[in-house]
Amino acid sequence: MITTINERVYALSTKTTTYLFEVLPSGHLEHLYYGPLLPQVTSDEALAFAQKRACECGNTIIYSDDDPDVMLENTPLEMSAEGKGDIREPFIEVIHENGSRTSDFLFQKAEILAKKDPYDTLPGSYGLAGNNHLVITLKDQQADLRLELHYYVYEDEDVICRSSRLINDSDETVTLNRLMSTQLDLTNNDYVMTSFTGSWSNEMNRHDTSLLAGKHEISSFTGTSSSRANPFVMISEKNTSEDYGSCYGMNLIYSGNHYEMAEVNAYGQTHFLSGINPRGFQWVLEPHETFEAPEAVMTYSHEGWSVLSLHMHAFIREHIVRGEWKHKPRPVLLNSWEAYYFQFNEHKLLSLAKKAKQVGIELFVLDDGWFGHRDDDTSSLGDWFVNSKKLPHGLKYFGEKIHELGMDFGLWIEPEMVNVKSTLYQEHPDWTLAIPHTPHSEGRHQRLLDLTRKDVVDHLEKVMSDLFSSAPIDYIKWDMNRIISDAFSPSLEASRQGEVFHRYVLGLYDLMHRLTVKFPHILFEGCAAGGNRFDLGILCFFPQIWASDNTDPICRAQIQENYSYGYPLSVFSAHVSASPNHQTLRQTSLKTRFDVATFAILGYELNLNDLSKNALEEVKQQITWYKQYRTILQEGHFYRTMQKQNDRQEYSWTCVAQDQSCAIGFTLQTLVHPHQPFHTYKARGLDPMKCYSFQNVSHKEDIRRFGDLINSQIPIHIKPDSLTQKVASQFVKLEGEKDYYASLSGASLMYGGICLKTSYTGTGYNENVRLYQDFDSRLYLMKAL
Ligand code: DGJ
Repeated sequence: MITTINERVYALSTKTTTYLFEVLPSGHLEHLYYGPLLPQVTSDEALAFAQKRACECGNTIIYSDDDPDVMLENTPLEMSAEGKGDIREPFIEVIHENGSRTSDFLFQKAEILAKKDPYDTLPGSYGLAGNNHLVITLKDQQADLRLELHYYVYEDEDVICRSSRLINDSDETVTLNRLMSTQLDLTNNDYVMTSFTGSWSNEMNRHDTSLLAGKHEISSFTGTSSSRANPFVMISEKNTSEDYGSCYGMNLIYSGNHYEMAEVNAYGQTHFLSGINPRGFQWVLEPHETFEAPEAVMTYSHEGWSVLSLHMHAFIREHIVRGEWKHKPRPVLLNSWEAYYFQFNEHKLLSLAKKAKQVGIELFVLDDGWFGHRDDDTSSLGDWFVNSKKLPHGLKYFGEKIHELGMDFGLWIEPEMVNVKSTLYQEHPDWTLAIPHTPHSEGRHQRLLDLTRKDVVDHLEKVMSDLFSSAPIDYIKWDMNRIISDAFSPSLEASRQGEVFHRYVLGLYDLMHRLTVKFPHILFEGCAAGGNRFDLGILCFFPQIWASDNTDPICRAQIQENYSYGYPLSVFSAHVSASPNHQTLRQTSLKTRFDVATFAILGYELNLNDLSKNALEEVKQQITWYKQYRTILQEGHFYRTMQKQNDRQEYSWTCVAQDQSCAIGFTLQTLVHPHQPFHTYKARGLDPMKCYSFQNVSHKEDIRRFGDLINSQIPIHIKPDSLTQKVASQFVKLEGEKDYYASLSGASLMYGGICLKTSYTGTGYNENVRLYQDFDSRLYLMKAL
């Protein structure tokens, strides 16, 4: 809800939060409050919260003689500009034709609208209810420039989105050096900024940085939102935990270079900005043109990060993800990449597909290597016709075979790229981002097509449309494997080269928009060398994203847990792959690989033909189990239930059905501690008053886990790693422990928790002992009675 008090104070309220600002007599917008819901907002609140300014503050700048108490350097604002005494990082930076960089934007009008603008050039949130769109128009006092600040209030999800637009009403051409999407000024410091940084196969490492003085910047300059730094960040009061504390979550609906910056000024105030990264950005704004900044997403929780995450999850599920697949259960897929990489043929693929069908796979995905002359990563990107050596009967035939087997058919593409070794490059060398007559720096032997050009986007739309119509394609994995270097578009004049990064993203969105509208039934999955473009911009078009090329469950537990701070489980996929794992060579059980991947959109990515009969049976049971509970896992309320951050050895999660009738619990041991037999699992999010049964999902243990210890229990001697041991292990399986309670209240499960069966500590083993050693995991099922 948006309310106005005396046409001066604006209160934006969601179910549990209030956001407040006022128009100062000078015309500046003073930010007053963003926190727990205020039951009432009157002009008294505004008076109480407003900064008290009575006289000049040291050697700060006085805004004007008419407003002697306005000093912009230390006033919490909705928007900071260069040049009038506000020396913090600016929200907007404009260079006028005469070279001046000073801007002076003051309030002109406010409008409350019923709707949000439809998608124009940039994707954004949708499905806004009621009169929940506020537009504040500010006017520059020196030039005919209008700055619009847009606020969208999503009441049910406790989210407020902001975006901004600069409109050039003048006859002069101005240069925009930056236009941010949101600014949040907090009156104190000592917050903790949480960011998620990484690299290929090492996405989403969490960092907590104290904001005490100076600037802390999280940004990307890869041309993508990047695995180097995800645009989702949190700003929390010190000592915030999953359950307690005041915290803000911020994200950006953008897939290019982004920037999140927190600055503590000399007055101990915290100034936060988020938007397109100003580094390498410059936009020439001609008379009567508009520049639009992407939307930023903000939420607040005074009950710690769990609630913050629930807000973000609900918002993304309802107001970002769209189309036919929005709430459809996502199919369990098998991806050919880690099974065969580039070395496959029709026969190999079909035999894999038959096995996939037998174990219950619903979607067979043919990954890289099916087109042109692609036998490795040095050639053929751009040549989107079938590799007839590998698939002699063509793609249509192959897709139909998969359909005949009773599975959907999916295909990998990387439309934004071209290899120099390709027909496309030979025909259109000028279609790439490259500096003419200059050596080009390659990434994975490939170059980016120049998506700033409309003719290139038109070409890709045609080629991809033809491809998608040429075979029965139900799913597309859209990959993007290099970052941008040599950022130059020969089609743009010199003064516009600062626009290349952003124009590339606009071209990409245009292409994604055209193709997803044309092929609404196709399930698209985003990917960029794993999670190098995991962001809300992509999610406006594609309902799911491949989270990381790292499929090691121990690494994945951390990666998935950290994505979960800002993103729901329904948007990231995870695959059970081979052991030893291809990225880490770590060995883990099939159970652990499944248990981790089940807390995401489940898939498999390994050669099923290499699995034993027992292992295939286990996979079949896993998939059957997942299908039974996937609605909860994909659409339920997800909680991280382990509080320890440092020196932790375990992960613990709970995913609860929206109606609280059922929940799935998960625990994972990383490295076992000696003689630590007692572990407690505590659920979250249950109905405290309901009664639930509790049990672990049953499993069997392999006798080989005991190595030569087994000899102390049996009359014969079995040599470890011998054939006899292998054969014995096929026939003799140990039943895992059973943790079972017929009826416990939700309150007991959440507050007391379950003291689980004792863990193996080297002093005995029987059916009441839990083998919970290195890399072991458990799934628990709680069902309301
Ligand atoms: C990178 C992706 O993340 C992988 O899953 C795989 O599709 C390869 N590219 C194929 O080249």
